[in-house]
Amino acid sequence: MEKKIYYFEKPGTENTEKLIELVKERREELGIDNIVVASVSGKSSLKVSESMPNAKIVSITHHAGFKGGDELELEPEYVDKLERKGIQMYVGSHSLSGVGRGISNKFGGITPVEIIAGTLRLFSQGIKVCVEISIMAADAGLIPTDKEVIALGGTAKGVDTAMVLKPAHMGNFFDLRINEIIAMPRP
Ligand SMILES: Cc1cc2nc3c(=O)[nH]c(=O)nc-3n(C[C@H](O)[C@H](O)[C@H](O)COP(=O)(O)O)c2cc1C
Repeated sequence: MEKKIYYFEKPGTENTEKLIELVKERREELGIDNIVVASVSGKSSLKVSESMPNAKIVSITHHAGFKGGDELELEPEYVDKLERKGIQMYVGSHSLSGVGRGISNKFGGITPVEIIAGTLRLFSQGIKVCVEISIMAADAGLIPTDKEVIALGGTAKGVDTAMVLKPAHMGNFFDLRINEIIAMPRP
């Protein structure tokens, strides 16, 4: 089978609109219901929901305290709009750093889960993020693990990477399957 991958010239937020257009096409082609979006503020998830109003969208933000204190980085402006649209928002521990980051921050070195994250980043930041948020959403019971879903991630802000994958839970991480890459940056 032949399939297309769209490569962005640079990573970053300016690719968000084009990425959403490509996701919309692939979703229609494959008949996929569930979409998981990494959206720290809620902005990218709102854009996805405007483009695909019938999709079952899960919007995932950073865990509280990611930037210090106990703060959440969701922005009230987007939260209100996402709530009104019935979009599920989720906050939880990051599956590809977790307590491992606490260990390496305190004692140095690197834990196996951080090596997995670093390896996925060989493709792009967003590839790692798509895998990470799919595990988080599956563990929260917000997406199925017996069907393909589409995940979108990016490089700090906006979204520049999307894939079709079959999610898995944390306990059987290696059953996750990345089936198609829709787009990614080619830095
Ligand atoms: C759980 C989680 C982990 C993330 N990890 C990374 C990362 O390792 N590298 C990165 O560049 N961006 C990371 N991001 C940022 C996302 O890839 C994406 O660019 C961002 O959530 C978009 O937010 P916005 O809608 O507010 O622009 C992460 C976001 C979340 C929610």
